Amino acid sequence: MAVRHFLTLNDLSPSELNQVLDHASKVKHSWRNGETRDTLKNRVLAMIFEKSSTRTRVSFEAGMTQLGGAALFLSPRDTQLGRGEPIEDSSRVIGSMVDAVMIRTFDHQVLTRFAAAAAVPVINALTDDYHPCQLLADMQTYREHRGSIQGATVTWIGDGNNMCNSYINAARLFDFQLRVACPPGFEPNAELLAGASDRVTVIHDPKEAARNSDLLVTDVWASMGQEEEQAARALAFADYQVNPELMALAHKDALLMHCLPAHRGEEISHDMLDHSRSVVWDEAENRLHAQKALLEFLILGQLS
Ligand code: CP
Ligand code: NVA
Repeated sequence: MAVRHFLTLNDLSPSELNQVLDHASKVKHSWRNGETRDTLKNRVLAMIFEKSSTRTRVSFEAGMTQLGGAALFLSPRDTQLGRGEPIEDSSRVIGSMVDAVMIRTFDHQVLTRFAAAAAVPVINALTDDYHPCQLLADMQTYREHRGSIQGATVTWIGDGNNMCNSYINAARLFDFQLRVACPPGFEPNAELLAGASDRVTVIHDPKEAARNSDLLVTDVWASMGQEEEQAARALAFADYQVNPELMALAHKDALLMHCLPAHRGEEISHDMLDHSRSVVWDEAENRLHAQKALLEFLILGQLS
């Protein structure tokens, strides 16, 4: 059977994505009930981090342990990846020793090149272009709080970044309408937008975009790697803060998500993460459960 990767959400069909999410909730409940699970016993996940992480690292590492396997943390600082060993050579070697590889890097092409040379599943744990693992957790969280997201209206407030691009993919695969409220010049990937024109609308006015929405989602104004743009971005995004006034324009049952880490007082007001509509803490925890389901799907090739 051909190796399956998870480089963007598009690597799974809508029915496979829903299967993974069903499984994620099942694994979550059995874990909470104290049931142990060793479906990945003796399996190893290599985790390559070229950018910082809290949630992604902890959730993948804890997830592998909870399923009976193990995870290896690899950083460019102390592997040959940081000293220029070709990506393809690293992929062949690492892939010959482990059962799956997770990569967080800058250039999405580093990930695709690694995957092309890999004999085992490769998972995108964030690139400059996409963050599909976060979308699994977000979709799981929405389902658990509100049921199916099909037909819902989701509003993205802020930068047209990796998270926003993944929301565009999700709009097509999970069949919802997405409004993107970003300052002019900070739109998401143009090709992606053009391919999703039936589901995604760019509305520069955040108030108009938030009105009657079922879910507001935001993210930092300057992503990892854009630190030197922080001041300029703070000016450009000043009108794009999610706060109780903006939330009040959304549907009365609307939820708020943020992939975290958050910058209170910038993209989100100080009171918003703990607002009654915020599900950010469940969203963060669901990284663990969604990725356990994803790891079983990719490594075992089936879910049971
Ligand atoms: N949301 C997310 O990916 O968080 P980390 O950067 O902490 O992994
Ligand atoms: N857009 C953010 C997401 C962090 C999880 C970044 O790339 O830094």
